[in-house]
Amino acid sequence: MTKFPARRLRRYRQAEWTRDLVAESTLSCSDLIQPFFLIDGIGKEEKINVMPGINRYSLDKLFFQLDKVEELKIPVVAIFPCLNDSVKNEIGTEAINENGLICNSIKEIKKRFPDLGVMADVALDPYTTHGHDGILNSSGQIMNDETVETLVKQARIQAEAGADIIAPSDMMDGRIGEIRKELESIGKKNTLIMSYAAKYSSAFYGPFRDAVSSKLSKGASKSTYQMDFRNTNEAILEAGLDVEEGADILLVKPGLPYLDIVFRLKTEFKLPTFAYQVSGEFAMIKAAAERGMIDETNSILESLMCFKRAGCDGIISYFSIDVANELKKMGIER
Ligand code: PBG
Repeated sequence: MTKFPARRLRRYRQAEWTRDLVAESTLSCSDLIQPFFLIDGIGKEEKINVMPGINRYSLDKLFFQLDKVEELKIPVVAIFPCLNDSVKNEIGTEAINENGLICNSIKEIKKRFPDLGVMADVALDPYTTHGHDGILNSSGQIMNDETVETLVKQARIQAEAGADIIAPSDMMDGRIGEIRKELESIGKKNTLIMSYAAKYSSAFYGPFRDAVSSKLSKGASKSTYQMDFRNTNEAILEAGLDVEEGADILLVKPGLPYLDIVFRLKTEFKLPTFAYQVSGEFAMIKAAAERGMIDETNSILESLMCFKRAGCDGIISYFSIDVANELKKMGIER
């Protein structure tokens, strides 16, 4: 490499146009997935204290949000249910109710917004009284294979309801293969599977558990199925299995503290790779911005661009609508 003064890297940085000209990463609305929390009923809109600006919506209220999403050219929404305790039980039976909140909502959303991608979460935590993603045995361990049987049924009814992307976030072993087999057997050949391939056991999910009302109440720790945050080779093993089992898209979660994992998975598998900027990451930015410690818009835009730089093809972020609005102002859409 030529040395100074022949090479002055500041030449690239002298004006906005030169910086834009040589920029290595781009962020556009088509990279974004907006998550939503759904509740039963009509005309309902509930604030979530730990996630300022994010609400739980009944379906009719959600439609107004989806109008916005479509107008902003955000291609996909991810939906999560927040259920009353009265419909939960030990084994999460409501997860396989084809007339439950999620399946009914998928059908209605696809009817009104046929061109909008809908992503559905596969895991039992919003449906179980104890808040685990799986089914417990009598000593409080999460049973892998028994859980996978339920997850397969859950994925099946979501796909039948019209979900475009099935997203297993449960971290049971072998579930991607079983779900793929089931989808093939019912003729759902085009349903995408976005596997939470490297999902870490993380304190950053705290606000989400509040949002879907799924506080852990008993049983082993989620660290018996979610990954240990000290590990990176294990992420390659996890993702490798999911790729073999038929995952279309790999997801890393949480997001910003795990960009090394994004980079490794992208480099190793070259599959479409996404990251989830989770509720705790959202809350940190919001809280710091509310206290005037950081600039909200610029911090958000920077954080999302960093996902792209690390190798993400797309990002699940609670800020997606805000970001799309900003990009639009900057004249960037697709
Ligand atoms: C559970 C699930 C979680 C999140 C998405 N799916 C929480 C958990 O594993 O306990 C977290 C998302 C977020 O924090 O925004 N299946």
